[in-house]
Amino acid sequence: MNYPDILTSLSGEKINSRFLWENFRRGEIAGLFGDYVYGKCPAGKPDGISFKVTKVIGGFHGHKITYNEITAGFSDYSFKIMGFVPEKKHKVPAFVYLMIEAQEKRSDLLEEPQSDFLPVLDIAERGYAVFVLPSSGIYPDWENKADYRKGVFGVLSPDREKRRSNDWATISAWAWGMSRVIDYLETRDDIDTDNIAVAGHSRGGKTALWCAANDSRASFAVSNASGCMGAAVLRGKTGEHIKDINITDWFCENFKKFNDNEEMLPVDQHMLLSLIAPRLLYVESCSEDDWADPLNERLACRLASQVYSEIYGLKGAVLPDEPVEADKAYHEGSIGYHMKSGKHSITSEDWNYYMDFWDKKRNGGKKGE
Ligand code: GCU
Repeated sequence: MNYPDILTSLSGEKINSRFLWENFRRGEIAGLFGDYVYGKCPAGKPDGISFKVTKVIGGFHGHKITYNEITAGFSDYSFKIMGFVPEKKHKVPAFVYLMIEAQEKRSDLLEEPQSDFLPVLDIAERGYAVFVLPSSGIYPDWENKADYRKGVFGVLSPDREKRRSNDWATISAWAWGMSRVIDYLETRDDIDTDNIAVAGHSRGGKTALWCAANDSRASFAVSNASGCMGAAVLRGKTGEHIKDINITDWFCENFKKFNDNEEMLPVDQHMLLSLIAPRLLYVESCSEDDWADPLNERLACRLASQVYSEIYGLKGAVLPDEPVEADKAYHEGSIGYHMKSGKHSITSEDWNYYMDFWDKKRNGGKKGE
């Protein structure tokens, strides 16, 4: 199989130094993903954005955790962030978690914080804050069929008729929202802003990867079962392909051209992962998730490791030859991996792997308090 080469520039040059990677090739790859796949996000923090804490609950559910509800907004647009922060005397690392609509609909994190997809109490118990961004506040999911008028598009996008073929679409909007949560974390003095992770499941995992690719303030990216246009190499994968995923409005207009022309796509997903180097990255697969394709998620980790090792002198993914065992942690390098037995899901088991990895790896392997 012919996978696009991460370390050859569009001009055909070999990229063999950190200088060439950071000044030329990295931006080139990010630009291609913006132009052809996710659409370009408006850069930076919007003018006049404010964050107001609108609810505080100390001793949340009898634990040393404070719940903060935050209303973020500008112009006449606002969205909600839900923060669960362990009560400590020192700054704490924080996960930013994109809660997708299916999870929003079947959960009430205030009443039942120990949810199946996000065990808030366990996470805080282990010393991590978690800030949840409900995706519907940024833009409702694809039932809206490329409306691009609601949510953030209503204030930051041109009229639908004036949209360009590389303008941002839903995943870019959600990733933009995760970056706004990071803006907010930077205003708090109880958060260790050197240790911020962006995390998500499935479409949320695709979003977390794209967010981390664009926002270097995320020092760790967690992709749970993100599959097609997330962590799985597209070329040669099982299950979902471009024309399946393009029934959604998650990607830019240009991406539709590739429905039956995948081989023409100038990028593939190992290149998305490589944009996160030298930061920490975690890829999770589910063993019975052929739609996402665990084998090609591992392939992306293996191929992206080239940037960790050749450019930064770090170990990327340290994985044995195939077949890789399920329910085993591969935590040796800067790209962590495990494959959970069973179907497409995120569970407390996954969170334990993520926190074990981060405990061990953050601050260059020296766990900070
Ligand atoms: C669908 C979609 C996937 C996506 C998943 C999810 O299965 O085809 O690309 O990852 O939904 O978000 O749950």
